[in-house]
Amino acid sequence: MTVYIKLLKMSKKFKYPLLDNAFSPQDLQKGINVLRSGQITMSGITKKFEKSFAKYLGVKYALMVNSGSSANLLSVFAACNPYRKNRFKIGDEAIIPVLCWSTSLWPLVQAGLKPRFVDIDPHTLNVKVSDVIKKINNKTKLIMAVHILGGCTEMEKLRNIAKQKKIILIEDTCESLGSKYNKKYLGTFGDFGTYSFYYSHQITSGEGGMVVCNNYEDYCILHSLRSHGWTRGLKLKNIKNSDNKFTFYNSGFNLRPTDVSAAIGLNQFKRLKKFQQIRDENRNKIIKTIVNDKRWKNQFIFQKIIKKCDPSWFGFPIILNKRYIKSKSRLIEILEKNGIETRPIVSGNFFNQPAIKKFKIFNTKEKFENAQLLEESGFFIGLHTKKISNYNLNQIKNNLFKIEEILPKKNKIRIGITGHNGVLGSAFIKNFHTKFEFIKYDGDVTNYLKLKKWFDKLDVENFLHFAAKVPTNLVERNKNQAKKVNLESVNSIIKLLKENNRIKWFFFPSTSHVYKKSKFILNENSPKEPSSVYANTKLLAEKNLLKFQKQKDVNICIGRIFSYTNYNQKKSFVIPSLFHKIKRNYKLSIEKLRAERDFVHIDDICNAIYLLLTKQKKGIFNISSQKKLKIYEIANLISKQVKNKKIFSTVKSYGNKDILYGDNKRLKNLGWAPKKNINIIIRDFAKKN
Ligand SMILES: Cc1ncc(COP(=O)(O)O)c(C=O)c1O
Repeated sequence: MTVYIKLLKMSKKFKYPLLDNAFSPQDLQKGINVLRSGQITMSGITKKFEKSFAKYLGVKYALMVNSGSSANLLSVFAACNPYRKNRFKIGDEAIIPVLCWSTSLWPLVQAGLKPRFVDIDPHTLNVKVSDVIKKINNKTKLIMAVHILGGCTEMEKLRNIAKQKKIILIEDTCESLGSKYNKKYLGTFGDFGTYSFYYSHQITSGEGGMVVCNNYEDYCILHSLRSHGWTRGLKLKNIKNSDNKFTFYNSGFNLRPTDVSAAIGLNQFKRLKKFQQIRDENRNKIIKTIVNDKRWKNQFIFQKIIKKCDPSWFGFPIILNKRYIKSKSRLIEILEKNGIETRPIVSGNFFNQPAIKKFKIFNTKEKFENAQLLEESGFFIGLHTKKISNYNLNQIKNNLFKIEEILPKKNKIRIGITGHNGVLGSAFIKNFHTKFEFIKYDGDVTNYLKLKKWFDKLDVENFLHFAAKVPTNLVERNKNQAKKVNLESVNSIIKLLKENNRIKWFFFPSTSHVYKKSKFILNENSPKEPSSVYANTKLLAEKNLLKFQKQKDVNICIGRIFSYTNYNQKKSFVIPSLFHKIKRNYKLSIEKLRAERDFVHIDDICNAIYLLLTKQKKGIFNISSQKKLKIYEIANLISKQVKNKKIFSTVKSYGNKDILYGDNKRLKNLGWAPKKNINIIIRDFAKKN
């Protein structure tokens, strides 16, 4: 009984292999028929398969071999064959993507070529033609284009460049049978195209491959190289005794398939279109199931396809978003343990493979950053030839989302930040660099394209938009620039937030000077009313943000910040400004020091923002100390620190009408109270100055 239960449990274990059983009973029967016939070695059925393969691709010649690797080997050795007019010589160079298969590379080395690697495009996993062009020099005689997992590069451009420079183009299409570029099958653009029928590829004959070309001379070379270098099967006018069974007119290998694999391959080949369609549907379903789940936070990135490429898939690459990379090996362990078979994305960065060291292929110091990142972040699972069940979809999805559970706890929260060099930005980073990882925008916030490029790569849930032009004379003089930085940058960011599904909390520091009807003076250097550019741009930005809040599920948090000070600010802010004036023996008249102010220390502002961030609060919050001081009182406090200075020409208290104060109730309810009072601020400031 226990044995029975155990067996039952074992048989129930979920399995999602790289490939379901793609062989139909008829495929196998065709193979068995060949075995029964006694004609197992390559014969008429192989020819039939070759013909129908060539017809399907629209090429003149197809030659079956025993594997995709053999197809590569044959085409490279054909490309340097003395019977070929345009051929490469030992020591010439060949360009190859650094993300490739081992037997895309080694035939090049075995034939005496020096490989030059090209990094891949991280989105398509294939190379960019522009990067290939950069590697072409006088010695380049061959390009091995490896079409990765159904995708490709811009093939017409690549073909034209190769033609123009008389470079031999081989397309390793072992992973992309059935894919098209601009309605033309991959593998048919270059001099040779190679295909693999290994297990889990678009079709399988167990083992097997095909090499195609359009040139009769090339076909003859391939044909003879496949079988010992002999002439058999070819009509060669220029070769003496070419009808003789054992006339060896070329060098050679034996890379022939058997008719058994040809029979299986040929029968399955009829279902290629159907497989392609089902795989495409299955892929779309897997993606849809994942991204529609409420746990979706862009944990994974899926392979992109260039324009004009119509892909034929066989695997489903999954690339982990940056912050999950460290969990990759643990996730793969979980997937494999739970029955989901995985593979690395082809070779990863081939430069890391031990064979490169052994064979001393060190012709570059390049880093191949994209292939490296892909190696660290990517893997693939299978795409089956039968429609995927909901059960399988859920298993794949739920196992993939286990990435959230295994994320190392001590991973710092990542925060996007603009204005990191400003007063607020630098103070916030100084205070909280141990708690957060800051992803800083280093450019000009008014440069939309640059901002967008940065945003597109940005993988954060929290965002601090600190970049601003503060209320100094400069702002009032250069209104356009102030408008751009304070308002247009917010509008650009709103536009970008609409496309970004990752950011959940967004903070914007506004100003206390936005109360429309007040008559406050902004500060010593800016004797303007709140209708000034600064106040108005901030107010409009607030409005736009609140409007956007209604359209999208982002917590918009606005902090209206009161006059503040920090230790390092020399100019522009009230306390430092007064301090320096007093030090330089300025005679200050009380009339010029009208407003009552509410000062809050920069560290307190940082603490308030920290609290709002950790509680993911939305809405408008005043950030003030609620300690109202007249400016002459502040000046008095400063004078205690700057001995023997006469400060005022008139000692007269000004009325209450310019009082500026904030109601901190909402922040107080969250448990926030400023820690630094004005005396300490002034004392600390005096110590440093
Ligand atoms: C790009 C590429 N080229 C060549 C091959 C070799 O094919 P085969 O396994 O049939 O030798 C593979 C195998 O997966 C491949 O992915």
